[in-house]
Amino acid sequence: MLKIESRLAQIGSIQEPVTGAVSFPVYQATAFRHPKLGQSTGFDYARTKSPTRKVLEDAIAQLESGDAGFACSSGMAALQTIFAYFSQGDHLIVSLDLYGGTYRLLEKIMSRFGVTATYVDTNDLVGLEAAYQPNTKGLVIETPTNPLMMITDIELVCTWARKKGIVSIVDNTLLTPYLQRPIELGADIVVHSATKYLGGHNDVLAGLIVTKGKELSEQMAFLHNSIGAVLGPQDSWLLMRGMKTLALRMERHEQNATAIANFLLEHPLIDEVFYPSLSTHPGYAIQNKQSTGNTGIFSFKVKDARLIEPILRHIQLIAFAESLGGVESLMTYPAVQTHADIPLEIRQQIGVDDRLLRFSVGIEHIDDLIADLSSALSKAQAELEGDSL
Ligand SMILES: Cc1ncc(COP(=O)(O)O)c(C=O)c1O
Repeated sequence: MLKIESRLAQIGSIQEPVTGAVSFPVYQATAFRHPKLGQSTGFDYARTKSPTRKVLEDAIAQLESGDAGFACSSGMAALQTIFAYFSQGDHLIVSLDLYGGTYRLLEKIMSRFGVTATYVDTNDLVGLEAAYQPNTKGLVIETPTNPLMMITDIELVCTWARKKGIVSIVDNTLLTPYLQRPIELGADIVVHSATKYLGGHNDVLAGLIVTKGKELSEQMAFLHNSIGAVLGPQDSWLLMRGMKTLALRMERHEQNATAIANFLLEHPLIDEVFYPSLSTHPGYAIQNKQSTGNTGIFSFKVKDARLIEPILRHIQLIAFAESLGGVESLMTYPAVQTHADIPLEIRQQIGVDDRLLRFSVGIEHIDDLIADLSSALSKAQAELEGDSL
């Protein structure tokens, strides 16, 4: 098999037989002519299957070592489609440090349909056993978690889930199949907010699902078509175009993020840096075992919460904005933005407090990024000192 860099660069490039177009065309059609009664070209109606989307779906299934891929209109649409696999009365065990939108979907919507969830540190088998109930049907993990970068041993917990006969679902948004492939480690379903690193340019909202096994793949195809939160042809094309450069981008994201994490570690205004590429990170060994590199986002805590507002006001190259994974650097304040829907007690328990900033490091030149951050920190400190005079 070709190396992953080659497979990424070649997504869709040898699949258009009529013209030989190297970039797979955008098939905008929603209806497809049948040759005759009882026959189909393989495409009937675009919600069920659409040519441009199919190239993307086949590519992500292959990249994640799964059996089937499904492209959705957002990461949340992908998660909703997956959660619809469960029925009233089912229980899920879920990572404690979790993207706020996933928590909101489970607590404010799925709970109304009788699907309940318990949030635990998924790296602790004792905790998993304690959370397990006779009606537990699924395990949902993020690794690394967003925003605290906690690492779960995928092989360990997926083996546990398999023994219990429950479905394991891994949100692989932060690492992508270029760096980590959960299905190879035993997961049943992988989900992505493809809006992030896979798209990579802060310009397409998308979600992807990959399933392993016939039963799950058939069920997911049924749910994907029945719910209909599918990705349109233009966005499917845009996402594939982003994915072609994934390998190069991830390498640069990691290089830049590691350099900035080390810079912040030494900075007098910073208390803690949460990034698994640092050897002091508690998940360092597991992360190195199960992935071939690190993501480009990390979080850090400033010493004084009063620094947050001026830092966000003074960054210039780095944008104060709420996403991650794009070529442009973005900084966000999880407690009031991405994780605002998580109750205060849970946020405090895991450490998403008012001193935490999350930094999605882009692919700009490292010197410019450090200069921008360093200047914002100095200006914030000067303002704080001025206030206390
Ligand atoms: C880890 C993770 N999963 C899922 C989502 C939801 O994806 P989307 O915003 O594409 O709906 C996000 C969004 O930030 C995320 O960070």
